[in-house]
Amino acid sequence: MSPLIAIDGPAGSGKSTVARTLAERLGLPHLDTGAMYRAVTLLAIESGTNPADGPACAGLAREMALQLGERVLLNGADATRAIRSERVDRAVSAVAAHPEVRQELVRRQREWGAAHGGGVVEGRDIGDVVFPQADLKIYLTAAATERVRRVRERAPATSERGREEAGRDLASRDSTDSNRAASPLKVPDDAIVVDSTHLSVAEVVEEVLSHL
Ligand code: DC
Repeated sequence: MSPLIAIDGPAGSGKSTVARTLAERLGLPHLDTGAMYRAVTLLAIESGTNPADGPACAGLAREMALQLGERVLLNGADATRAIRSERVDRAVSAVAAHPEVRQELVRRQREWGAAHGGGVVEGRDIGDVVFPQADLKIYLTAAATERVRRVRERAPATSERGREEAGRDLASRDSTDSNRAASPLKVPDDAIVVDSTHLSVAEVVEEVLSHL
């Protein structure tokens, strides 16, 4: 049976790159649960739904057809880039704070786990809520200044202002994700904490593999 590896942590901690690399190394499927919250947020924006309206956002979540892979297919359309846009960045924490949205997405995540029998799953509540029985729980973190630097580097370099905003957005997203009532971002009791501030992706992956 394939192992289930949970990777949680804040934005800019290196979760996505590490999770993808780890999955490739181990030949396991990979699930980016942040992309699911982003997809619901994009649908809310496009349909004029208020991101603060929990029941309406949950309705969108229940109805959406979402395929995650190299490309993201949302209700039949390619949303790979759109789910990473600034407007989604700004609204996603509000959407992810609704218990009714989380309930539907957690249900889909567990369904994915049952269908694959294992894999590398990244998010904020994976080891704590979604798969408390995970074989390995990693909490990836990095110093705030380094996380801001990484997120700014990812932001479109169209203007210095865009990058400044990316840094501010990160701080406000972290704070909303960590202080919400429903499944806040926290270190699961039995997680191994890896600080990636001074580590390369390859070094983080080796560190994680050493615990498997
Ligand atoms: O990992 P990311 O930046 O793509 O996540 C986008 C947002 O979704 C982030 O604000 C936190 C939220 N999220 C969550 O609440 N639970 C998860 N399992 C994954 C993401």
